[in-house]
Amino acid sequence: MINALRGMKDLTFEESQRFVYIITTAIDIAKKYGYSYIETPILEETALFRRSVGESSDIVGKEMYQFEDKGGNDVCMRPEGTAGIVRAFISAKLDRQPQKYKFYYYGPMFRYERPQKGRLREFHQFGCESFGEASVYEDFTIITMIKDIFDALGIACSLKINSLGCTECMPPYRDDLVHFLTDIEDGLCDDCVRRIGTNPIRTLDCKNEACQALLQGSPKLIENLCESCDSDFGKLTELLNQAGIDYEVDTNLVRGLDYYSKTAFEFVSSEIGAQSAIAGGGRYDKLVEYLDGRPTPAVGFAIGIERIMELVKMPESKREGIYLGAMIPEAINSLFPVAQRKRREQKVTVEYDAKKLKAHLKGADKAGARIAAIIGEDEFSNGTIWIKDLESKEEKTLPVELF
Ligand code: HAM
Repeated sequence: MINALRGMKDLTFEESQRFVYIITTAIDIAKKYGYSYIETPILEETALFRRSVGESSDIVGKEMYQFEDKGGNDVCMRPEGTAGIVRAFISAKLDRQPQKYKFYYYGPMFRYERPQKGRLREFHQFGCESFGEASVYEDFTIITMIKDIFDALGIACSLKINSLGCTECMPPYRDDLVHFLTDIEDGLCDDCVRRIGTNPIRTLDCKNEACQALLQGSPKLIENLCESCDSDFGKLTELLNQAGIDYEVDTNLVRGLDYYSKTAFEFVSSEIGAQSAIAGGGRYDKLVEYLDGRPTPAVGFAIGIERIMELVKMPESKREGIYLGAMIPEAINSLFPVAQRKRREQKVTVEYDAKKLKAHLKGADKAGARIAAIIGEDEFSNGTIWIKDLESKEEKTLPVELF
C-alpha cells in the first residue's frame, strides 16, 4: 500500500467540511473588506524566495522543496504566498497604477520541517495582501479583519504585536544588537552564534532557555524606533485600544521571514500546543521594490488553516434538501426529471435502488435531507409522489408536476 508522504495529509469527509467552512467564512469577510481573489502558481523560481523570504531565514536555508525541473530550471514549491503575489503584482504592472489593490488567496504551502502536531510539510493558508496603502490605518484594518474571521469561526486567541522598524532605524539597532550578542557569545547556542553574522534579529526569538535568559538584557528596537515608526506604532496601539482589541507588545516577535518592516503581528491560541501561531503577518514596504517593482507600500497576513481546523466551532448542521426514492423498479426512471428540476434550488439525493418505505426513510435521515419524496406503486400508477417533511413530520401526496 502506498501512503501519503510524511507531514502531508488527506482531508476526507468531516475534515474537508471544516476546511471549506473556514475558507468560505474567511472569503465572505475578506470581500467585505474590499479584497478580490488572486491565484498564483505553486511552483516558482527558487530565486524568488531567496530574495524575498531571505537567504538567512530557516525557510530558505533548510525547508524548501527545491529541485531542478526537466528544463534545468532551479524551482521551488512555494513555502508561503506573499512572494508569489508580489511577483504577480509586478508582472501585471500593477505597481505602475495609481490605485490600491487588495488580494485574498488560499492554497497549499510546502515547508520541509520536522512534522509534529500542528506542523506539516504541506499545509494550507488563507491570506490577504494589501498594496499601495502606507497608512498605519491599514495595518489596524487588517488586524480587525483577522479578528472578525476568528470571531466568526468561534476561535479564542490573543494578539502579539511589535515594530521591526524601517531602513532608517533598523540598521543602527542591528549594530547595537550585534555588539551586545558578541559580548555574550560564549553563553549562546550554536544557532544564535551563527545568526550573529547572518541574521542577528532572529536570535531574539530563540527558544533555548539559556539564550532567552541572556537576551533579557538585549537592546530593544521598540525603544529605538525612528520618529515615523514610533508614531505609527503609537497610532496602532491607540486604534487597538479604542477598538477594544486586546494585545501584548512582544519585543521578541521578529517573524521568520526577512521582508517585514514596521508592524509585525501574530495571533496565537493557547489551546493547540506548541505550534500556537494561528496567523501571522505585517508590513513589507520594501518588498515590491526589492523584487524590481516600483516602490509600493504593502501589508498582509496569512492564517494557518490546519491549526484553526483544530479550534473551529462548526454551526449545528441543519437538515437540508430532498431525498428521492422509488419503491418499485419501474418508478426509478421517473425520479430523474424531478431531481433535475429540484436541483436548480436545492440539494437532491437520488436513491437508485427500489426499496421499502422504511428503508427509504432511514436513507433520507442518513443523507441529512429535510424532505423524503417517494414514489410507490400507487403513486406511480396515478402520477403522484408521497412527501414527508422530516422536521415537522408532515406528510402529503401531490401530483408529481406540482412537487
Ligand atoms: P508565517 O507566519 O510563516 O507567515 O505563516 C502563517 C501561518 O501559517 C502561521 O501562523 C501558521 O498558522 C501557518 N503555518 C506556518 N507553517 C506551518 C506548518 N509547517 N504547518 C502548519 N501550519 C503552518 C507567512 O507565511 C507570511 N506569508 C504571512 C504574510 C502575508 N505576511 C504578509 N503577508
